[in-house]
Amino acid sequence: MTDVLVVGGGGREHALVWKISQSSRAGRIYCIPGNGGISNLAECVPLKATDIDGIKAFALERKVDMAVIGPDDPLAAGITDVLEEAGIRTFGPGKKAARIEASKVFSKGLMLKYGIPTAKHEVFDEYGAALKYLKSCDYPAVIKADGLALGKGVIIAENFTEASRAVEDIMVKKVFGEAGRSIVAEEYLEGTEVTVLAFTDGDKVVPMVSSQDHKRAYDSDKGPNTGGMGTFSPSRIYSPAMAEICMKTIFEPSVKAMSSEGNPFKGVLYFGLMITADGPRLLEYNSRFGDPEAQVVLPRLKTDILDIFDAVIDNKLDSVRIEWEESAAVCVVAASGGYPVKYEKGFEITGLDKAESREGILVFHAGTEKHGGRYYTSGGRVLGVTALADNLEAAAQKAYEAISDISFKGMYYRRDIAKTR
Ligand SMILES: Nc1ncnc2c1ncn2[C@@H]1O[C@H](COP(=O)(O)OP(=O)(O)O)[C@@H](O)[C@H]1O
Ligand SMILES: [Mg+2]
Repeated sequence: MTDVLVVGGGGREHALVWKISQSSRAGRIYCIPGNGGISNLAECVPLKATDIDGIKAFALERKVDMAVIGPDDPLAAGITDVLEEAGIRTFGPGKKAARIEASKVFSKGLMLKYGIPTAKHEVFDEYGAALKYLKSCDYPAVIKADGLALGKGVIIAENFTEASRAVEDIMVKKVFGEAGRSIVAEEYLEGTEVTVLAFTDGDKVVPMVSSQDHKRAYDSDKGPNTGGMGTFSPSRIYSPAMAEICMKTIFEPSVKAMSSEGNPFKGVLYFGLMITADGPRLLEYNSRFGDPEAQVVLPRLKTDILDIFDAVIDNKLDSVRIEWEESAAVCVVAASGGYPVKYEKGFEITGLDKAESREGILVFHAGTEKHGGRYYTSGGRVLGVTALADNLEAAAQKAYEAISDISFKGMYYRRDIAKTR
């Protein structure tokens, strides 16, 4: 049996813990820090996901057989290197490879060097030079802070005034701290965004089923950007022909590029694609499962996930056959009133049993706590209600029926997940 420690405490980690718990080989499951829903499947440990020393000590004390890292920040800080050094088998890229997400200057440089199709870009580490360029470039233009900025480091500027304000915020006022030391300015691309996650052992790359997400807070893509208000899988526009083009021009070259650069990437590589009239373009990489993409992709995975994790860690991804359900999945996020700006926590959540008793429904917890058998809100994104069905329309209908069973003070959710695009 394999005792597993999952690091992280959101909806993605609930989906991971749930999938791991289905493995015939799963032994004890621990989660740091976990959440109310995860606590039903795993022993939750109140440490921070970025407390690398604390996590290492815990993993050694409990003699876990494998660690699985959910979020980007511990990966960027080198948790995999530290745990591997201590003899703990770890699923997730090392610090050098995690730069593929943690530095946009690094990842855009990689795409340029290896001819991977992406938006044309320029890099600036000096405010004056950035301004000079932005005076004469085409608009809209896209400005990106180099480092991790909680999904807030990208600004689409309609004109020079907006662009100069963005650059001033990032480079002068340093609203993202060190993450804004350099910026990338790039060409605006028109198209539809599709996410493809892929397992890779540094050599072989196996794409998972496609998905799409809805980032804005309100219906019809209005309101502020969020961590994600819902997802669906598969994408309607990501055809087998498109998948083949992406494999040849983006996925395989990216994995090869990382190895050639001496940073073989092992783990889940997330490809954020823009499907344009001229073909697919790579917007960005992430170095881990997406949240809430994991909540629609993992429920469609038929293969034992521990077999895949072992194969990735041992560089023999060739040895497993990864299979998917033909079904479709839709995840609708229930958020706290006021999210992503300002919201209250601590409200009781009701109706979970009823929603979960429905056929084909999985409720993944994100910001929840469990006390005395009851669940309370503890974050902005509270739950992700995932439905599986034969097609996207049926799955969306099921997800909306199930979410209507659930309530907490201030709860809101988008009504159009998987219905547009
Ligand atoms: N070149 C581009 N053209 C059009 N939209 C873009 C471009 N780059 C980024 N975006 C938009 O901004 C979002 C965030 O950019 P991304 O590079 O994914 O950074 P992050 O996820 O780290 O914030 C994308 O999901 C996309 O909607
Ligand atoms: Mg992104």
